[in-house]
Amino acid sequence: MSKVLVTGGAGFIGSCMVGKLIERGDQVTVIDNLSSGRKENINPKAEFIQGDLKDKEFVLENIKNFDWVYHLAANPDVRLGEQDKRVHIQENIIVTHNILEAMRLNKLDKIVFTSTSAVYGEAREIPTPEDYGPLITISLYAASKLAAESIIYSYSEFGIRSWVLRLANIIGGRSDHGVIPDFVKKLEKNPEELEVLGDGKQTKSYLHVDDCTDAMLFATENAGDKINIFNIGSPDTVTVKEIAELVIERKSPGASIRYTGGKQGWRGDVTKFLLSIEKLKKLGWVPQSTSRDSVIKTIEQILAKNENKQI
Ligand SMILES: NC(=O)c1ccc[n+]([C@@H]2O[C@H](COP(=O)([O-])OP(=O)(O)OC[C@H]3O[C@@H](n4cnc5c(N)ncnc54)[C@H](O)[C@@H]3O)[C@@H](O)[C@H]2O)c1
Repeated sequence: MSKVLVTGGAGFIGSCMVGKLIERGDQVTVIDNLSSGRKENINPKAEFIQGDLKDKEFVLENIKNFDWVYHLAANPDVRLGEQDKRVHIQENIIVTHNILEAMRLNKLDKIVFTSTSAVYGEAREIPTPEDYGPLITISLYAASKLAAESIIYSYSEFGIRSWVLRLANIIGGRSDHGVIPDFVKKLEKNPEELEVLGDGKQTKSYLHVDDCTDAMLFATENAGDKINIFNIGSPDTVTVKEIAELVIERKSPGASIRYTGGKQGWRGDVTKFLLSIEKLKKLGWVPQSTSRDSVIKTIEQILAKNENKQI
């Protein structure tokens, strides 16, 4: 049994991660400020500390006596960076540095960090392996994650080992942001027509959160270098048009699609990506689902949730 801290454990991926760790028999503490996380996501078997990780004193006081720190707290809203140029710097870079400093001062030595496929920018090599470069980001969100990675690597000089996991688009019934919840909400408002941002040809890789959290545990249990960097994603892609059609089929059969046009859905949108998952596969991880499987499972879970059924 390990003592594990999960920052952002009231959020979408964080709360699912907490469930997996508790299932494994770990003693879990969650720190979250509930800015986008929800109280009802917090696992009753976890200890919960409400607080803001931007507050250095709070972080130093509370991040002690853990075997592992799973750092998932972040502002993951890529689009927000268009209006607010500081939010990702504060929430993703400064917060990560606060945590690393507290770890160093309180002598904790293992951090797991959720980075993103967006650090590769508009990669020329697809599927994109972990050693691809140069990493030219196209959003402040991606830049903040890349900067946070870099600070984490530097802290290995102070004895902190890291598992940096670059996630594809992670989806699941508990998520309330991203393309599928957006499409469902839009069709609830207007069941006749679905507005799709961009031209629908954006081609991306999606992975269900159950597979993502399995892969995260697998990486921490099977890699033990000072710095461990892994892509986590599905072996394939789907287009936004296909997702729109799958949501329509289940939610509002017969609805038409209206594309807003342009290649990108929004500024900073990486329109085409597929992560190479060979590095994790070589260690023995077997992806359980395709992008399409993950999309279908998520649509069904969101629709069931909206009908107040259990996920
Ligand atoms: N969802 C995806 O597709 C995806 C893809 C790649 C990487 N990631 C990364 O995975 C992590 C989890 O993402 P998610 O989709 O579950 O997001 P989420 O918004 O559901 O979860 C983030 C959590 O962090 C908390 N939080 C934010 N700022 C905080 C602060 N200053 N102090 C304390 N708590 C704070 C929020 O309240 C929330 O509960 C993030 O680091 C994100 O960047 C997500």
